[in-house]
This record gives sequence, C-alpha cells and structure tokens, in this order.
Amino acid sequence: MPPFLYLTAADVRQALPMAEAIDAMREAFTQLSNRAVGMPPRMCVEPPGCSGFLLLMPCHSAVTERLSLKIIAQFPGNREHGLPLIQALVILLDAAYGTPLAILDGAALTAIRTGAAAGLATQILARPEAGAAAIFGSGVQARTQLEAVCAVRPIREAMVFDQDAPAAARYALEMSEQRGIPVRAARDPAEALRHASVVCCATTSRTPVFDDAHLAPGAHVNGVGSWKPEAAEIPVETVLRARVVVDHRESAMEEAGDLLMPLRQGLIKAEHFKTELGEVLAGRCPGRQNASEITLFKSVGVAAQDLFAASQVVEKARRLGLGINLPR
Ligand SMILES: NC(=O)c1ccc[n+]([C@@H]2O[C@H](COP(=O)([O-])OP(=O)(O)OC[C@H]3O[C@@H](n4cnc5c(N)ncnc54)[C@H](O)[C@@H]3O)[C@@H](O)[C@H]2O)c1
Repeated sequence: MPPFLYLTAADVRQALPMAEAIDAMREAFTQLSNRAVGMPPRMCVEPPGCSGFLLLMPCHSAVTERLSLKIIAQFPGNREHGLPLIQALVILLDAAYGTPLAILDGAALTAIRTGAAAGLATQILARPEAGAAAIFGSGVQARTQLEAVCAVRPIREAMVFDQDAPAAARYALEMSEQRGIPVRAARDPAEALRHASVVCCATTSRTPVFDDAHLAPGAHVNGVGSWKPEAAEIPVETVLRARVVVDHRESAMEEAGDLLMPLRQGLIKAEHFKTELGEVLAGRCPGRQNASEITLFKSVGVAAQDLFAASQVVEKARRLGLGINLPR
C-alpha cells in the first residue's frame, strides 16, 4: 500500500507554485468541458442558528486515476475572531481501489486553485499587453488573484479596493513587497478601475462592487467571489455587454448569481452561460474578438479544480519528501 500523507498549508504552497497550478487548471477545465470528470453538484449543510455552513465537493477523474472530496467550511463571523472565512480539508483517494492516499490543507489549496483559474482565464482572455490590475477585496483569495494575473501578464502596477480600508492598506503593503510592483489602496472603486486592464473581484459582497461605467475599454474581469444565486459582485450592465465565459455551465446555472439574477429578470438568456473556459481552451468557442471588448470569466469554483490541484500536489510532495506519513 502507498503511504498515507498529511500535507499542511505550507506543504501545499511549496508543492504547488502558481505557474504549475495554472497548468493543473488547464487540464482540469479541459477535462471538465470534455465531460470526462464525474462531478455531482456540491452539497451544502447549514447548521440551524448559525451563519456558517459546510460544503461537500466530490470528484472523479479517469485521467488522474483519482477520487477527491473537499470538505469546506465557510463561517462569515470568523473575521471578528481572527479566523479565516474558509477552512477546509481535501482527501485524495486512488480511483482503482478507493485507497486513501493523502489528506491536505484545503484552504491553501482552494486559494491557489482559485487564483490559478483566474490566471488561466486572464492568459486566454485578457489583452496581451495588459499591465495594470484592479483587485476588489483584500482577503485570502485576493492575494492569489494578484499573484496569478502577475504570472500571466506583464503587470506593472495594481490597485486594491476593499470597503475595509485598513485591510486594503495592509494588502497594498504586503503585496507590493511580495510582487515587487507598486500596489496602492484606492479611495473608491472608480479610482481602482481607472487604468485597469485586468480586474479581479474576490469579495464577500452580495451586490456589485463597481460601476460598469468605470471599466476601461478592453478590460478583462475575473469574478470569483460570489457563488450563490442571490449574490452578485459584477454589475448587470457589465454582464450584458461582456463576452462571458464560465467555469462550468451546470454549476453556473445553479449558483452564479451574477448571471442568474439578470436571467431571472429576462435581461439575458441561457445562451449567456454557454461558453466554458475549457471550450475556449479547446478552440471550440471563441475568446476575445478585439482589443476593446470586455471579457468576463465567471467562476463559482468546482470540485474538478480541487482534484487536479490535489493530484499534482501529492505527486510533487512525494518527490520532494514533503508532509508527514500517517500510520494506516
Ligand atoms: N469561485 C471560487 O472558486 C471561490 C473559491 C474560494 C472562495 N470564494 C469566495 O470568494 C469570496 C472571498 O473569499 P476570501 O476567502 O478571500 O474571504 P475574506 O474574508 O478573506 O475576504 C473577503 C474580503 O472582501 C471584502 N469585501 C466585502 N464586500 C466588499 C465590497 N463591496 N467591496 C470591496 N471589498 C469587499 C471584505 O472586506 C474582505 O476583506 C467569498 O465569497 C468566497 O466564498 C470563491
């Protein structure tokens, strides 16, 4: 029997640098659009009298010969207690015999794979010369969003907007140092967007975080923060005029409030959900058509991302001797 590995957040980060995570997402979205993964809708458990909930996200891929299950807790009140919004574990199993292979810190994995998905979408959809980024939100996901867009475009400067101004200021300081570019906190969303050719929305907001009129022509927008039918970070005017690409059609139809709300209001049709990132990657659907078009990648986050990222992490961790072997 293979060893049973436990990988901490630090192990996960060491084993999955952003460039490799983007490669893993390329494979994940390709297999997803080929309908070559088994991925039931995620299940949500909501304890009564508590604002937090637990999501269960299983997946199977014949390509990786692995099964995975992510158990992800999202507790909105955690911020007041100095705890992260998201805490998670990912279990990876061999798909031939069902043997558990590893258990990984799922919060680190989620942040990297969510950033990497936005990075991949930016690589495919943003203008090649895009050099300025605007980041909405300054939390955990916002950090890997900037890291990912810097990995695929020559980003020379970034602005961050968060309604929590001290959090935005901390982000600006930390990310300037980490990325080696000027990152400044914007006074308002309009200032953040002024020169931005890549925009990342990674907030917990249930309402749009910017005004469509402030988007620069030709901007590419990644929307990863909202994933409930009644929550939307992206203004409806942006959805109406953008070339929209989703991570997974069925999941978007269930969860992408940014698209579901205008659909319910009769402003868009189901057609708006039809283009998946994997289909653009395969050349079956067109990507950006010209330099002034607005492109929007709407991602609710799917279990296939966790499976492909975790498979890569475990393989690499074994090569590098990372993690702790747990007794069986
Ligand atoms: N699509 C995916 O795959 C995926 C993966 C992980 C998390 N998420 C979602 O991303 C969101 C952010 O997660 P996180 O872990 O970074 O949370 P976090 O709590 O670390 O950060 C969220 C930040 O958003 C800010 N914010 C809230 N409303 C805002 C607004 N109107 N304008 C600007 N900033 C605002 C908050 O002040 C906070 O700093 C959550 O909704 C989470 O569910 C999505």
